[in-house]
Amino acid sequence: MLLKELSALASPLNDQQIGQLQKTVADLSPQQLAWISGYFWGLSQTPAAAGATPQPLAAAVATAAKPAGKLTIIYASQTGNAKGVAKSLEAAAQADGIEVSLYSADDYKPRDLAKETHLVIVASTNGEGEPPDNAISLHEFLQSKKAPKLHKLQYAVLGLGDSSYEFFCQTGKDFDTFLSKLGAKAITPRIDCDVDYEGDAERWRSDVLGKVKETIGGGASEVVVPLHAASTVGAASAYSKQNPYTADLVTNRKSRGVIRAKTCAISK
Ligand SMILES: Cc1cc2nc3c(=O)[nH]c(=O)nc-3n(C[C@H](O)[C@H](O)[C@H](O)COP(=O)(O)O)c2cc1C
Repeated sequence: MLLKELSALASPLNDQQIGQLQKTVADLSPQQLAWISGYFWGLSQTPAAAGATPQPLAAAVATAAKPAGKLTIIYASQTGNAKGVAKSLEAAAQADGIEVSLYSADDYKPRDLAKETHLVIVASTNGEGEPPDNAISLHEFLQSKKAPKLHKLQYAVLGLGDSSYEFFCQTGKDFDTFLSKLGAKAITPRIDCDVDYEGDAERWRSDVLGKVKETIGGGASEVVVPLHAASTVGAASAYSKQNPYTADLVTNRKSRGVIRAKTCAISK
């Protein structure tokens, strides 16, 4: 049944709660809805849920829909153009409710790369195909043996340059190559912008933000189910051994009394 057709008669929610729910989930993607369904199932199985006063649906959904990742933007810039493009991406991401951090390349700790989920590099080229001064050490680090594997990282690169130079947008190309060699996955192809870059940069910005929004919250997220709550599932729920609850389990690991289960689409 579609949510817009849902009535108080056909669900355990009252009309006001259904209205709240419809409003709250209106803008969510199918992946986010699937994530929320798994999150609420885990929540319903905790002891606190049994006697808890229900929190407003909007607040609960907002908590559940909190993206699993965040966006980090790094600029490599000599005279400010790349910095400007990076700042406008930061502002647009903030307006879209994405958690975002902006760094000059020389303020960024390269060892933090391993913790990133989504990285955007906006890089101009200086000298004869050289990185700008603020990005020399990051450029060196990424091609060194110290660079970590980045298989979980999703990234995008915008290069700024001038096609009258022999090594057009070389620094952007280098960063793209380094990240890809370390196992990171491009969410959109790199673009190399010439001197009139504003229009291309603006189109790229909306493309990147779209891709970030698709992937930042859509991945599997961890729901922590305390073991003692899991053991009461039969008593508290309509599901039993004979009528099992069907869900796809992505990973399952046990640590200090909790089962950490990664949720994905729930098929019941
Ligand atoms: C001294 C100098 C050297 C440059 N070398 C290159 C180059 O090798 N390749 C390239 O594509 N662009 C080159 N450019 C063009 C810049 O990358 C381009 O103007 C860019 O928009 C500057 O961005 P920024 O202000 O962020 O540094 C050079 C520009 C200057 C002033």
